[in-house]
Amino acid sequence: MLDINKVRADFPILSRTVNGKPLVYFDNGATSQKPQIVIDAISNYYQEINANIHRGVHTLSQLATDAYEVARGKIQNHINAKFAHEVIFTSGTTHSINAVANGFASLLKPDDEVLVSSLEHHSNIVPWQMLCEKTGAVLKVIPMDENGELIMAEYDKLLSDKTKIVTVNHISNALGTVNPVKYMIDKAHEFGAAILIDGAQAVPHLKPDVQALDCDFYVFSGHKMCGPTGTGILYGKEAWLNKLPPYQGGGEMIKEVTFEKTTYADLPHKFEAGTPDIAGGIVLGTAVDYMNSIGFDNIQKQELELLEYATKRLLEIEGLKIYGTAKEKTSVVSFNIEGIHPYDIGTIIDKLGIAVRTGHHCAQPIMNFFNIPGTIRASFSFYNTKEEIDVMVEAVKKAQMMLA
Ligand code: ALA
Repeated sequence: MLDINKVRADFPILSRTVNGKPLVYFDNGATSQKPQIVIDAISNYYQEINANIHRGVHTLSQLATDAYEVARGKIQNHINAKFAHEVIFTSGTTHSINAVANGFASLLKPDDEVLVSSLEHHSNIVPWQMLCEKTGAVLKVIPMDENGELIMAEYDKLLSDKTKIVTVNHISNALGTVNPVKYMIDKAHEFGAAILIDGAQAVPHLKPDVQALDCDFYVFSGHKMCGPTGTGILYGKEAWLNKLPPYQGGGEMIKEVTFEKTTYADLPHKFEAGTPDIAGGIVLGTAVDYMNSIGFDNIQKQELELLEYATKRLLEIEGLKIYGTAKEKTSVVSFNIEGIHPYDIGTIIDKLGIAVRTGHHCAQPIMNFFNIPGTIRASFSFYNTKEEIDVMVEAVKKAQMMLA
């Protein structure tokens, strides 16, 4: 059982006020708040062991290198990767996806096909469009239905021997749909296609098991799971990471450099050119420990209750429509009120201390599907409460009265 008051006390920002009101933070889909243990770990790193990694014989460099590699190991265990060198540190999900898409440029030829889902964030659309422009490959889109669920019968039809890579999010950032990724992974493999799972919105809510999933790539950001901004992970199966050329050249990703030819370092260093966010990587390990100490069973139970409660309470509001009614959903409620622009609601409720995201959520194709400019998105974390949902519902009603 989650002791919610104890959990909330871990997050100093949750006790601040915004515009004179207690903060109600429902923008967890954009970024999560950070527990004190994570905040402290950042300053501890700079106070105690700051040095560059993998480069020095001196003690501090070794301490920093060890801490960085320990963090890699924690992430390997967390996602159940077979090898630590399959875990590449990046600056975030966007970086991870671009690294894979760029790598595929050397593998694709004209008329090969890349399959993306219609539920994607722009960061899982644009890199693949750029890849297709570069190679002459064709981008195909897996359609969705009115509930915000991908249509698996259409996915099955789109797959063919031409499909070289499929890319889909584990959970939609705009609607909260949990996609049937295991089915999609197995199907892609039947056609010899690789598959990338964008786990950015999944890792705050669940513990992915990349070996059980059997995905070729799994990518996510640290900052949505209580970790620092500027951190992310590219997990790739060893064979794929060996096959893909590096995305960036630079220091520490080489074996040998001459002006005639450079050979690349082994994994994971081949994909980690330049000085990384050392503190960020180490502290991402702290964040993973923290999430596990809360326990993903507890996290899911709390978030499911919040989702059900918020859905019920919001639907009491006349003229309110929820977008994203998939059977499998995480704690995201995207909604609009008839005749009112989402931005106006967001602005008014911000004055009442409530943080939600309004707009297209970097998922314009989803908004186009529903023929709307955007939504108001409340995205919950395990540290949120039903009382906060009540505050939001009253605030939305007030905004509706003011704007009607
Ligand atoms: N991708 C983040 C969101 O959905 C920023 O808000």
